[in-house]
Amino acid sequence: MSHLLHRSVNGAYPVAVGGKGVMLFDAEGKSYIDASGGAAVSCLGHGHPDIVAAMHAQIDKLAYAHTSFFTSQPAEELAEHLIARAPRGLSNVFICSSGSEAIEACLKLARHYFIEKGESRRTNFISRRQSYHGITVGALSVGGRMKDRAPFKEMLLTGHHIAPCYAYRDRRTEETPEQYGLRVADELEAKILELGPDTVAAFVAETVVGATLGAATPAPGYFKRIREICDRHGVLLILDEVMCGMGRTGTLHACEQEGIAPDLMAIAKGLGAGYAPIGAMLASGRIVEAIRQGSGAFPHSQTYNGHPLACATALAVQKVIERDDLLANVRLQGAHLERRLKERFGNHHHVGDVRGRGHFWGIELVADRASKTPFEASLKLNARVKQAAMARGLMVYPMGGTADGTSGDHVLLAPPFIADAAVMDMIVERLGEAVDAAIVGALHDGAGH
Ligand SMILES: Cc1ncc(COP(=O)(O)O)c(C=O)c1O
Repeated sequence: MSHLLHRSVNGAYPVAVGGKGVMLFDAEGKSYIDASGGAAVSCLGHGHPDIVAAMHAQIDKLAYAHTSFFTSQPAEELAEHLIARAPRGLSNVFICSSGSEAIEACLKLARHYFIEKGESRRTNFISRRQSYHGITVGALSVGGRMKDRAPFKEMLLTGHHIAPCYAYRDRRTEETPEQYGLRVADELEAKILELGPDTVAAFVAETVVGATLGAATPAPGYFKRIREICDRHGVLLILDEVMCGMGRTGTLHACEQEGIAPDLMAIAKGLGAGYAPIGAMLASGRIVEAIRQGSGAFPHSQTYNGHPLACATALAVQKVIERDDLLANVRLQGAHLERRLKERFGNHHHVGDVRGRGHFWGIELVADRASKTPFEASLKLNARVKQAAMARGLMVYPMGGTADGTSGDHVLLAPPFIADAAVMDMIVERLGEAVDAAIVGALHDGAGH
């Protein structure tokens, strides 16, 4: 009996013992194509020799130095690398150990900025339903996955939620994609006016919604309108690119494709590619300047901020991505993956939508395509797909609650940036078999057999 407190206390998990390239291996000798990079993390695959070598080299020099005493070369170099490639206006990096911590830092810095500016009434944060921003109390408070929030609701900060940008279900037939995007973006303005513009600190959104909606891309013009609304009311824009950022969608930052820049941005997962736990907040120059002119301090720190080993690892990851021009591969092989997914699932009776960008794709499963009716939540179709895929040597990231927070199922794919066309073909083939097997099982059980 394991003494680990597993996610599922009664769950039995295979033991991961090794990995090479796009493959992971368990203790029984079974191999899996890592088509989801775990949870969109392992963008360089496993056992990358250059990353392993960079980690060894850093350990030989220095593993840890506390940031109240020292800065370190890896942390300084990583910050320099990130800012040189950051969306316009971002000037400083705060390095932590996870996506949730990066979001917490964004919330705290937004609040702190307004205190420094003498606008201390700005305490409200607005975010969207059907999004995930992390599991710590602050991040959960802005998160929009109501199922995750429910058990802890008395502990959460007040969160204000508007609609997601989820065209598959919410765009009206008479609307163009652009009209739909503007309509849902305008919900932000309505919410700001309802709360009182001088009480709102920031709006938080995933640029491309990952785990909760399955790679739901924003409607054209949506984020431009969001940016305008934020600027009009002096509200900060926090983009959560923990999952969709660092190259996942084919550009280093997903917001590049929207033509906007945030005031604060959270990154994690692909930053360290799973070789080290690391996340970061990128902050705009005007926010940092306000602190410089004010108290001079950001009162939010943790023991492992700027961890030298994690920073050296992330820097090596980012340099390999650039050296090997892997974002070009993401765009090329992402287009191949899109074609193959649409061939395999485009006319599938139980696939309502295939969506995504780069190496970030989702398929939404439905009981009926015409009405978009989801499968009964009790059938747990997403869990069945995960199990059927694992049985076929494939890791994908399915999730439930897609349609309305309770029902609906999707499967998220986030293959490593090193994946080639042959790997993509294998992923789609195994996924097709897994989805079909899971649906047959669900229909059978749903019919009461
Ligand atoms: C969009 C988004 N934000 C934040 C987080 C939280 O990151 P972490 O699990 O590293 O705390 C996640 C994790 O899945 C995420 O997908």
